[in-house]
Amino acid sequence: MTQNSNILVTGGAGFIGSHAVVALMKAGFTPVIVDNLSNSDASVLDRIEAITGRRPAFYPEDVRNEVALTAIFKTHAIDAVIHFAGLKAVGESVAEPLRYYDNNINSTLVLCRVMAAHQVKTLIFSSSATVYGDPPSVPIREDFPLAPTNPYGRSKLMIEQILGDLFVADSGWKIGLLRYFNPVGAHESGLIGETPQGIPNNLMPYVSRVAAGTLEYLNVFGGDYSTPDGTGVRDYIHVMDLAEGHVAALKYLESQHAGTSGGDFGPGPLIVNLGAGRGYSVLEVVRAFEKATNRQIPFRITSRRPGDVGVSYADASRARRLLNWQTTRNLDAMCADAWHFMLK
Ligand code: NAD
Ligand code: WQD
Repeated sequence: MTQNSNILVTGGAGFIGSHAVVALMKAGFTPVIVDNLSNSDASVLDRIEAITGRRPAFYPEDVRNEVALTAIFKTHAIDAVIHFAGLKAVGESVAEPLRYYDNNINSTLVLCRVMAAHQVKTLIFSSSATVYGDPPSVPIREDFPLAPTNPYGRSKLMIEQILGDLFVADSGWKIGLLRYFNPVGAHESGLIGETPQGIPNNLMPYVSRVAAGTLEYLNVFGGDYSTPDGTGVRDYIHVMDLAEGHVAALKYLESQHAGTSGGDFGPGPLIVNLGAGRGYSVLEVVRAFEKATNRQIPFRITSRRPGDVGVSYADASRARRLLNWQTTRNLDAMCADAWHFMLK
């Protein structure tokens, strides 16, 4: 793999995928996007072109469509794949588990089958800190117990296990399992960002809409956690830092011999947390957002959200050590960029 390698980016029209496409292009890679647009819009291609000056190849296909995926591999000499495509809403996964397992797991199975058929064996998978469930302590290290608490999280863990089995069966694979903490913010241009449909579930998009006046106030889910101000603490990571983490992981895998990609965990997939390595409470986020926007964010403390944990943040030292990557954008930048995107 060289710098102008072709990287297939599944889910590349989505929130994290679109930022990763920009980071890949900046690093000299050539992304090829496949996305069924189930949670995104093709107009993101115009915005990626406006940012980078180039328009990546784009296929509006479902990754589970083996015929369509095969045609893409025949058209482009793909060198590696970053697999973002998936459904990600926790509550929806509880209500529609079969849709979640079908989409997330079958897309991965089809993808790996087509990759193997074309001798493409370098794969980065979007996993999630949700695989840790309620951690025994913080910061969360990669070797902590894995105990997701909902179908979405279980689909991520199952895929991690499937990819681990694939590595055992054929050590020609180089696999990266990246466990993201809480991605927020937007590209500094304000052209791409997160646009959840309907009322947002996640904190930062919700706060943005309160600041914009389209939602009246924020419900703070719980004020009685064992945290300094009683509200939940999370490891927020700027989506461009996260995007750059993928470039670092790709370069790391490229530098490894097949069969050894696990780093100091020994042979196996590379498993890395991508987070800032520190936590902020809901009220700290509210205050930072008020500062970035110069607007008031009214809020009410309500009961805890079922399934929430009090505190979650990463031990980010493994990523620093192995990938030579760490976050560079702070909470103020996350809020400012999320707001800039909202205004645009
Ligand atoms: P997103 O919904 O914005 O992006 C996912 C993209 O995948 C969407 O554009 C959607 O249209 C596409 N897609 C879904 N199923 C597909 C299929 N079968 N075939 C083709 N395209 C399909 O979500 P995101 O926030 O960018 O998340 C990207 C990945 O990162 C997901 O796998 C998600 O589970 C994971 N992740 C996200 C977060 C987060 O908080 N955003 C945290 C941890 C992990
Ligand atoms: C953050 C904090 C809430 C909304 C989720 C998924 C996880 C991962 C990232 C994909 C918590 C509080 C929130 C609101 C609030 N996604 N909050 N009022 O729950 O840490 O993680 O997204 O893998 O799997 O579960 O993120 O942004 O929903 O919540 O008080 O209206 O904000 O209780 O403390 P979460 P979040």
